[in-house]
Amino acid sequence: MSSKENVKIAPADGKLGILIPGMGAVSTTFMAGVEAVKRGLAQPIGSVTQLATIRLGKRTEGRSPKIKDFVPLADLKDLVFGAWDIYGDNCWEAAEKAGVLEKSLLEQLRQPLSSIQPMKAVFDPDFVRRISGPNLKEKGSKMDQAEMLMEDIRNFRESSGASRLVMIWCGSTEVFHKPSAIHQTLKDFECGLMKNDPEISPSQIYAFAALKSGVPYANGAPHLSADAPVLMDLARERQVPICGKDFKTGQTFMKTLIAPGLKSRMLGVSGWFSTNILGNRDGKVLDDPDSFKSKEETKLSVLEQILQPDLYPELYKNVYHKVRIDYYPPRGDAKEGWDNIDIFGWLGYPMQIKIDFLCRDSILAAPLVLDLVLFLDLAQRAGLRGVQEWLSFYFKAPMTAPGLYPEHDIFIQLMKLKNTLRWLRGEDLITHLGLEYYD
Ligand SMILES: NC(=O)c1ccc[n+]([C@@H]2O[C@H](COP(=O)([O-])OP(=O)(O)OC[C@H]3O[C@@H](n4cnc5c(N)ncnc54)[C@H](O)[C@@H]3O)[C@@H](O)[C@H]2O)c1
Repeated sequence: MSSKENVKIAPADGKLGILIPGMGAVSTTFMAGVEAVKRGLAQPIGSVTQLATIRLGKRTEGRSPKIKDFVPLADLKDLVFGAWDIYGDNCWEAAEKAGVLEKSLLEQLRQPLSSIQPMKAVFDPDFVRRISGPNLKEKGSKMDQAEMLMEDIRNFRESSGASRLVMIWCGSTEVFHKPSAIHQTLKDFECGLMKNDPEISPSQIYAFAALKSGVPYANGAPHLSADAPVLMDLARERQVPICGKDFKTGQTFMKTLIAPGLKSRMLGVSGWFSTNILGNRDGKVLDDPDSFKSKEETKLSVLEQILQPDLYPELYKNVYHKVRIDYYPPRGDAKEGWDNIDIFGWLGYPMQIKIDFLCRDSILAAPLVLDLVLFLDLAQRAGLRGVQEWLSFYFKAPMTAPGLYPEHDIFIQLMKLKNTLRWLRGEDLITHLGLEYYD
């Protein structure tokens, strides 16, 4: 299918404003990284939009442009940042406290980062329990708070001179909630906002404010946010793209690399034990069992969907899957994730795989933030609205249309992403059939 005539993509003229609830380890590493790349101090390693190529046409044609030269993405020099946080530190101070980047690099970025002051946050200690801070909006109904956020968005648009905006949640993980009656229709949700319904979380108030303002929204954390039915409907109605949730970085990234490989060779799995230690603020919040429950849900769902025990009961019916996260302050952001995988092969003979991933959480997450904001902006300029399933590649718990199971296999996700870009530009989709080479 070709869409050359159909999809018109508006040019990426002017500045793109990135609005971020949560100015912690991930978002400061992202903003500092963009400023460093802009100044030629470092390379955007890990970013598909900046580094990856895309093959077009037949293998014999030799056409493999960089993605950023193929689709019209915002240029890094045109990105401007705004954020909210419960702490009053500016972005430079918050980056220093997060302890991810070296002081020598941060020193060179002092000017652009110190100018990013967090706006006052919409916060609710019932949803994030282990931290508290002074930089909060004055009390009022949840609707008042949504309106204050919409005013922040308007003010930022004006003061930054941005022609387009994107919002991405990089705030703490909220406690586990399922969608309730209040999350079904706009009428009920707005009524809930006015009556301070306890089921409405701060991240949903940010998402509501973004969508009402026509701003695309992504959720980098695992809790319920724009994936509530009412907000998915609102996004479609307002012609706004959304995606989420929970950045696929360390251990789950490894899981979605390895599990499809085992399945492709029809090797069985009897157990998968995953444990992590991390000592940053995220680890502290996740030490609360109800916040951990949000994370556990997204981390556990991955294996079942990839292995498909219903289709392969002899291989995956009895997988014992356990995920743990322990808060261990000495490690800071340098998380260690261990996996023990018990597998079995020919005639049922058992084997083991051990993975010890000494990673850096925010170094893995920052390029995902960059790609997501650039692609969401592209999606909006291309007239795409609602859930952007082609961005599943970036998430542990990809959002889908209701009733559709998410695709977790990272290689299928990448093919889907690249085919969506080809489709947007009217290029042939690549099926990898390849019979034509042998005619
Ligand atoms: N780093 C990764 O690899 C990774 C992977 C997947 C998901 N995540 C998620 O991304 C989020 C950010 O991670 P992080 O390491 O930067 O955490 P962090 O604790 O360093 O930063 C989160 C920030 O959000 C702020 N915050 C909390 N509630 C807020 C609110 N209502 N409004 C505004 N600010 C608020 C906190 O004060 C904190 O500064 C977490 O939810 C984490 O679970 C991170």
